[in-house]
Amino acid sequence: MPWSPSPQSPPVPAVPRTLPPVHRERRRAPRTPRAPLPSLLTRLAQLGTILRPTPHVPLAVPGMELFAKLEYLNPVGSIKDRPAFWILKRAAERGEICDETTVIESSSGNFASALAAFTRLVGLRFIPVIDPNISATYESFLRRTCDTVVKVEERDDTGGFLKTRLQMVQQLCASTPHAYWPNQYANPDAVDAHYHLTAGDICTDFDSLDYVFIGVSTGGTIAGMSRRLKERYPKVRIIAVDTEGSVIFGDGPRKRHIPGVGSSIVPPLVSEAFIDDVVLIPERETVAACRELLLTHGLFAGGSSGTAFAAVKRYAAKLTRTRCPRVLFVCADRGTPYLDTVFDPAWSSRLE
Ligand SMILES: Cc1ncc(COP(=O)(O)O)c(C=O)c1O
Repeated sequence: MPWSPSPQSPPVPAVPRTLPPVHRERRRAPRTPRAPLPSLLTRLAQLGTILRPTPHVPLAVPGMELFAKLEYLNPVGSIKDRPAFWILKRAAERGEICDETTVIESSSGNFASALAAFTRLVGLRFIPVIDPNISATYESFLRRTCDTVVKVEERDDTGGFLKTRLQMVQQLCASTPHAYWPNQYANPDAVDAHYHLTAGDICTDFDSLDYVFIGVSTGGTIAGMSRRLKERYPKVRIIAVDTEGSVIFGDGPRKRHIPGVGSSIVPPLVSEAFIDDVVLIPERETVAACRELLLTHGLFAGGSSGTAFAAVKRYAAKLTRTRCPRVLFVCADRGTPYLDTVFDPAWSSRLE
């Protein structure tokens, strides 16, 4: 069923009618009464109208019917637009946020960018907590949209920055009045966002599906999508895609360079996902897959999209369930923020 704003959401306010022309005899126009600001819930309902279904495009790959789900066509540019909107909407519905709220969150880029744009749009403050792995494009976007950006510099005991970022979020929440932490690593509303919105699009477009490949970081995407897709297509196999050196599926922690996919903690949301198999991809293979997506298929997609595509290709020999299985993978964000890394041959030649 195509997504539409929740029936509980208040209606989108009508565009104010223009005032009648000023009478000639009057020396001064009467003061226009200032319309009260629509409620936070109403502003969020308005925001919901800009999140539309994303397309599923066919790719010519032998031995399968392959589709890419272009989540980078969301309004701010990534799959994270979905949980950012849904978490704010549900928090407002439950009265957990109000006009005075300051949202504080740790993100490697996409979730913070979505929150930055959406909080601004609905009139809330937002403090993103980022780390040096963030792409220059995202950092500059955040510095242009948020009054305060906090960048941690110290690596945690796994060699990543996540734990340091989360400690900083705790400190800021303790010292900021009306702070709200969306906690994308454990918020069930992130799962619901992908259940209703991301997977909802797929259910509308496909009458059958054999395999779905999904990059994992917080686990929200795979938890929400797998639950909905298993309900709709009981035989579908959900393949979790991660980077070598990420600890989510038990690999030893190692320094990773491509943001978006992978994690230096095991996120609790992963345990809510229905996962049939896991594929771990080395970063060099992600780079090659991103280039192939661009040069062979015309898709300028980011690191986790390349990682998912690499996993599809690795898995191709195992795709034996039907003669020509129908396969879908998620393109979570656009290639632009990765131009100076994944798409730069000098940068990628330094990867182990
Ligand atoms: C580009 C990209 N791909 C994939 C993911 C993974 O999504 P999730 O955090 O829901 O597991 C993220 C998460 O930040 C991301 O930014």
